[in-house]
Amino acid sequence: MKNEVLTNLELEEDKDLNIRPKSLDEYIGQSEVKDNISVFIKSAKIRNEALDHILLYGPPGLGKTTLANIIANELGANFKTASGPSIEKSGDLAAILSTLEPNDVLFIDEIHRMPRYIEEILYPAMEDFCLDIIVGSEGASRSIKINLPPFTLIGATTRAGDLSSPLRDRFGIISKLKYYTEDELFLIAKRTSKVLNVSISDEAALEVAKRSRGTPRICNRLLKRIRDFALVYGKEEIDLDITNEALKRLKVDKIGLDDTDYNFLMSIIDKFNGGPVGIDAIANSIGEEISTIEDVYEPYLLQNGFLIRTSRGRVVTDKAYLHLGIEKDN
Ligand SMILES: Nc1ncnc2c1ncn2[C@@H]1O[C@H](COP(=O)(O)OP(=O)(O)OP(=O)(O)O)[C@@H](O)[C@H]1O
Ligand SMILES: [Mg+2]
Repeated sequence: MKNEVLTNLELEEDKDLNIRPKSLDEYIGQSEVKDNISVFIKSAKIRNEALDHILLYGPPGLGKTTLANIIANELGANFKTASGPSIEKSGDLAAILSTLEPNDVLFIDEIHRMPRYIEEILYPAMEDFCLDIIVGSEGASRSIKINLPPFTLIGATTRAGDLSSPLRDRFGIISKLKYYTEDELFLIAKRTSKVLNVSISDEAALEVAKRSRGTPRICNRLLKRIRDFALVYGKEEIDLDITNEALKRLKVDKIGLDDTDYNFLMSIIDKFNGGPVGIDAIANSIGEEISTIEDVYEPYLLQNGFLIRTSRGRVVTDKAYLHLGIEKDN
């Protein structure tokens, strides 16, 4: 199996695992998803059976991995993890599946990036808890069936649309995580400050919430950086002044757009007159992968009406021109 490459972000998150909520009660927001999942967990426990397979999807940093962990905790089950792109050979998947104990949770992150031939091994595992594998070399090969204990697969993806329909159909529970409201992010900012052992005023927490682009990961990241400024400038509490100052230094604007967003929008404006322009042309011009643009750059801009997708390509909206303070050439 390939070594898992952890991004800087994930490494940073791993360092303070305490920031990650551990129970459904601590998990803020996503109330519909949470309430339903809580019922399904209780029912599985009453029946003493494995919880049905769950697919969690939504933009990065909204709490898919966190929720998967919590589900295993609430079930009192082991939590085993794998990631789609790291499962390269059928033996890799077989090895993971064969370590499962009854009612365990197997989490597969980025499940849309799992090779199709691996997916096919997963179908009988998900449906009938059995593994069909071929052993032996060509000519003398034979297929053997191995029974697996009942388990729960939790798949996470930023791109539910990239999942094949046979795979999607095998999940009994499909939940979409949404961007968080300011009130929810306010509570997350308050909670994280407590974990980090710093105090924060309500108005500062609200300011962080407003600039977190609906995303807990961003909220926590901004908060840690603001904490650094507060610490170095000798502030006992994170107040609105130090928050504004730190966010100015970090180049995060009033609604949470940063350098990356500015560069992205400006390159469409400068090079393509604001669009419409195809995603491949944008990717070429800024030297980014299409998938990164679609998963990381665009969702928040689309959600907020700074960018629209048309059949002829992406278009920067009047709202974005206004926000950037740029006159539109016609
Ligand atoms: N509902 C929540 N309440 C409090 N904190 C949260 C919540 N959801 C996520 N977080 C925090 O946000 C961070 C990012 O969450 P997580 O890693 O679960 O996101 P993700 O959806 O798995 O992202 P990716 O798509 O990049 O894998 C975590 O460190 C966690 O502490
Ligand atoms: Mg994750």
